Amino acid sequence: MRMGPAAGRPASLAECRRRDLADPLGPLVRRFRQPRAGIYLDGNSLGPPPRAAITAVRRALEAEWAGELVSGWNTADWIGLPARTAARIAPLIGARPDEVAVADSVSVNLFKLAAGALALRPDRRVLLAVEGDFPTDGYMLQGLAGLRPDLRIRKVAADRLAGALDGEVAVLVASHADYRTAALADLPGLSRRASEAGALTLWDLSHTAGLVPADLAAAGADMAVGCGYKYLNGGPGAPAFAFLARRHHEAFANPLPGWMGHAEPFAFAPGYAPAAGAARLMAGTPPILSLTALHAALEVYDGLDPADLLERSRQLADTFLARAGPALEAHGFTCVSPPGRGDRGGHLAFSHPHAYPVVQALIAAGVTGDFRAPDLMRLGFSPLTLTRAQAWEAAVRLERVMDSGAWRDPAFAERRRVT
Ligand SMILES: Cc1ncc(COP(=O)(O)O)c(C=O)c1O
Repeated sequence: MRMGPAAGRPASLAECRRRDLADPLGPLVRRFRQPRAGIYLDGNSLGPPPRAAITAVRRALEAEWAGELVSGWNTADWIGLPARTAARIAPLIGARPDEVAVADSVSVNLFKLAAGALALRPDRRVLLAVEGDFPTDGYMLQGLAGLRPDLRIRKVAADRLAGALDGEVAVLVASHADYRTAALADLPGLSRRASEAGALTLWDLSHTAGLVPADLAAAGADMAVGCGYKYLNGGPGAPAFAFLARRHHEAFANPLPGWMGHAEPFAFAPGYAPAAGAARLMAGTPPILSLTALHAALEVYDGLDPADLLERSRQLADTFLARAGPALEAHGFTCVSPPGRGDRGGHLAFSHPHAYPVVQALIAAGVTGDFRAPDLMRLGFSPLTLTRAQAWEAAVRLERVMDSGAWRDPAFAERRRVT
């Protein structure tokens, strides 16, 4: 990892400002409510609110819920909102609208897809997963194995996945980007390799959806899940999405077959008949207020090329590194994100023996990043919501926090925050 000034990286705040002004994507930041003070480098964990989402939720509360009451299911088309939201996510992940459902959380969707995938490979007993992947994914697989004592979970390091894909593996479950380091998996290569081995793929796109184009169809991926509240900016606890490739629609059975995944929920039929397409992945009543926010948030992607967004995020990270590099090195940080900008998603992670108090001191200095146990400082560079000038200023404030020793204040060592 090259930390510090380098060719192509801005060399001053003035240059950052000039580049921001010249950037055709620059005006996008104005579509987001910016923090009153400070710089937000945690859009990879919870995206800031798009102005459109704030307006849409207010309207949904006042005009739709208060105004229409139960009629809102029809007059405001609440019933169609999951499908309309799925249609906005589909192009961002290389899917067709009927291959995406918006429902529940990543955890729950992962469970539904993994269980359904196992049923598509009845003669195989192994779930292949990645050591150190986001814990909820592993917990869900353990829960599944608890219901199916014949199953085995095989966990290997991310770089050993290809070799572990043998004739026993039913499903490969892996993240597109590592939640700690942002290292990108070879999604197309592993999807191809899994398919050659007769296994299905279930990708967790939580740290890439809206940032790194996954192009699921081109990759031949089978299934995927992803977060609505990170780069997609759908708001705290926004519903997640689930992708199910069209070729599996007929055979796939949702293990949680609720009425909203029924072909005709309002027929109130005693027997279950799945809805067409990925909509069968739904279970219960959709959370309309949260969905309203997510649906409106996705408007910002209209007409944007996802590749441009990724490049912008990388330029923001480069800007931060250009200014922060010397201070990071002087104060004992080690970048654990991949050195090649093409090998990582949208955040940078640095290990430091005192990462927790450093992150708290940084937050107090007006730069919100996050801490991940045991010793990581994570800083996210969301392409829609940040400017290069902010990335530069964040580096200046980090340097100040470290040079002044502000992080040594005992108040910052107290573990009070949940994220
Ligand atoms: C990679 C990954 N998967 C899953 C989750 C959890 O998603 P949910 O809370 O929607 O179940 C997260 C949350 O940060 C995550 O980073």
